[in-house]
Amino acid sequence: MNMRTSVGIIGAGPAGLLLSLLLAREGIASIVLENRSREEIEETIRAGVLEQGTVDLMTELGVGERMQREGPIHHGIELRFDGCGHRINLYELTNGRAITLYPQHEVVKDLIEARLNQGGQILFNVEDVHLSAISSQQPRIHFVHEHEPMEIQCDFIAGCDGFHGISRASIPVSQQQVFTRSYPFGWLGILMQAPPSADELIYAYHEHGFALVSTRSPELQRMYIQCDPHDNIANWSDAMILEELQQRLETKDSWSLQVGPITQKSILAMRSFVIEPMQYGRLFLAGDAAHIVPPTGAKGLNLAVADVRNLARAFTLFYKQKQEHRLEEYSTACLRRVWRTEHFSWWMTSMLHRFPDDDMFQQRMQRSQLEYTVSSRASATSLAENYVGLPFDW
Ligand code: FAD
Ligand code: PHB
Repeated sequence: MNMRTSVGIIGAGPAGLLLSLLLAREGIASIVLENRSREEIEETIRAGVLEQGTVDLMTELGVGERMQREGPIHHGIELRFDGCGHRINLYELTNGRAITLYPQHEVVKDLIEARLNQGGQILFNVEDVHLSAISSQQPRIHFVHEHEPMEIQCDFIAGCDGFHGISRASIPVSQQQVFTRSYPFGWLGILMQAPPSADELIYAYHEHGFALVSTRSPELQRMYIQCDPHDNIANWSDAMILEELQQRLETKDSWSLQVGPITQKSILAMRSFVIEPMQYGRLFLAGDAAHIVPPTGAKGLNLAVADVRNLARAFTLFYKQKQEHRLEEYSTACLRRVWRTEHFSWWMTSMLHRFPDDDMFQQRMQRSQLEYTVSSRASATSLAENYVGLPFDW
């Protein structure tokens, strides 16, 4: 069966869904293809921190109502080391900007609902997706849906299918340059049924390794500890995880971790990755399909949002004013922010984790950086403006 649309979007993650809504606002047709089920993508636990710009864009698109009702706004974060907490006042240091805590799967639920209510097409559970003629004016997407082979003819394809998708792999190797770094540690992430232990996120540096306290709701908390990326989650009993969290977060005052049953646990590897350029022919990559950052700066989802905002503007100019220059500049425009974000995420990661070779020089460097960050207004401001997110046109 053959179909036709203006922009074929691969992937119903935050990037693909937001792009479809941004295009719909401009009257540009799109079809979203997703290889997992709606239930699965609405339940996958991932990011939690939304930058001010992401929040503003969702509000502008009319999909921010539940986020505003349920997602608390945080005006600061804590950096904790040597048993002492130091607050970084994001709000004051950035002239009134802040972050919102709202889980990625809730964002995805809101975007899917909004797009389907508009009558938009999202095909879930598609199989065998592959692209053809991407360097021509009529690129095609081939896939199987409900056992039927299908083909979509498009003007453009947006590859929003995450790090493991097929879009990036469709670009000839000779046309791509890849930059990557893997880290000698991973994160063990848990969900715990307990009240919050703090009003704001805590990023802790400790000789046993990094720990992070985040939240999902007044009853459910999200926490991470640095671990061996090759470790098996079965090696970690709940008691061991709690013990490590308590040790790494211990303070010299009366602070204590609120504990409760652990309902989910998993280990994730950490990497930095960028492909240049983010475009080949009529295929445009956005979000994790084009770049990955380690989660320490809470940036991945937000960077995906910045990409698709650029891409939607470029498509709008093409369809409304027949101008191609913004499409031609898409990759260059995105990569400036991508590399800034890569640097910030790498910097936060390098400052806060213990490296396994136990290099004493590096430890002294980390300590000095942490002390400088919490005591110099200039250094704290740099962290704050990157953390809340640079303006979209940066
Ligand atoms: P994805 O969310 O990966 O979506 C891609 C979609 O494409 C998926 O639904 C996938 O099923 C689909 N797909 C894949 N292959 C195909 C195919 N062949 N055909 C069709 N569909 C396909 N970011 C933040 O900004 N803040 C945070 O606090 C934060 N915390 C994080 C914590 C963790 C533990 C992790 C793992 C990540 C975190 N991130 C955070 C990163 C964030 O989750 C990602 O950057 C974000 O999901 C990227 O969105 P995306 O739409 O580009 O890709
Ligand atoms: C989360 O809540 O999942 C989270 C928060 C901050 C990070 C990464 C993840 O830096």
